[in-house]
Amino acid sequence: MEFINVALPKGRLGEKVYDMFEQAGFPCPSIKEKGRKLIFENAEAGVRFFWVKPSDVSIYVERGAADIGVAGKDILLEYAPDVYELLDLKMGKCYMAVAAKKDYRDDPSRTLRVATKFSNIAKKYYAEKCRDIDIIKLNGSIEIAPILELSDVIVDIVETGKTLLENDLEPKEKIVDISARLISNKTAYKFKQEGIDKIKEGLAEIVRNKND
Ligand code: PRP
Repeated sequence: MEFINVALPKGRLGEKVYDMFEQAGFPCPSIKEKGRKLIFENAEAGVRFFWVKPSDVSIYVERGAADIGVAGKDILLEYAPDVYELLDLKMGKCYMAVAAKKDYRDDPSRTLRVATKFSNIAKKYYAEKCRDIDIIKLNGSIEIAPILELSDVIVDIVETGKTLLENDLEPKEKIVDISARLISNKTAYKFKQEGIDKIKEGLAEIVRNKND
């Protein structure tokens, strides 16, 4: 039988995602062994898992190095990879927000300085509002930017809101809800559709049971 190659996001979310695959009938017990190995397979279930950096999952899937994978909607919106989005796993829930210092008051007559990792999402959001912005692309610790006056606002992910709170910032506007999505390479979906659909249906069942 042909393997279905699955790119999983390395980290806490990825471990929960793997548990869903296991519950759905696609286990690969060796993945739980402590170590630094990144590829695991279970020939019987026909699955091969790779741990990759969460923001790289869609690259592996788009280029066909993985047949399917799990990526955040934030990454799909930001990079618009040419993949199929098969299922909302309803986990890793958070939202994309504009945040600023608590006492920040916007002056619409001035160009807004926006610090973010998600420049495409931010550009689209403000273009729809016809607002002139200056994007300051950062790679992490975005919350520091308004504190050091590097930017007026940030566009970033809010999960619990703790990071904002502890840095004296607050969410000002919600841009979009985010959650983890099952994605598929387009060609793989043509040639391995039966196997991919089996995984999708198995996961959909788990999602339904969890949300009932
Ligand atoms: C995200 C985001 C915030 C934090 C929000 O970072 O950039 O810093 O989570 O979570 P909270 O609302 O629960 O405090 P993430 O941990 O994904 O990694 P990053 O630093 O690489 O962006």
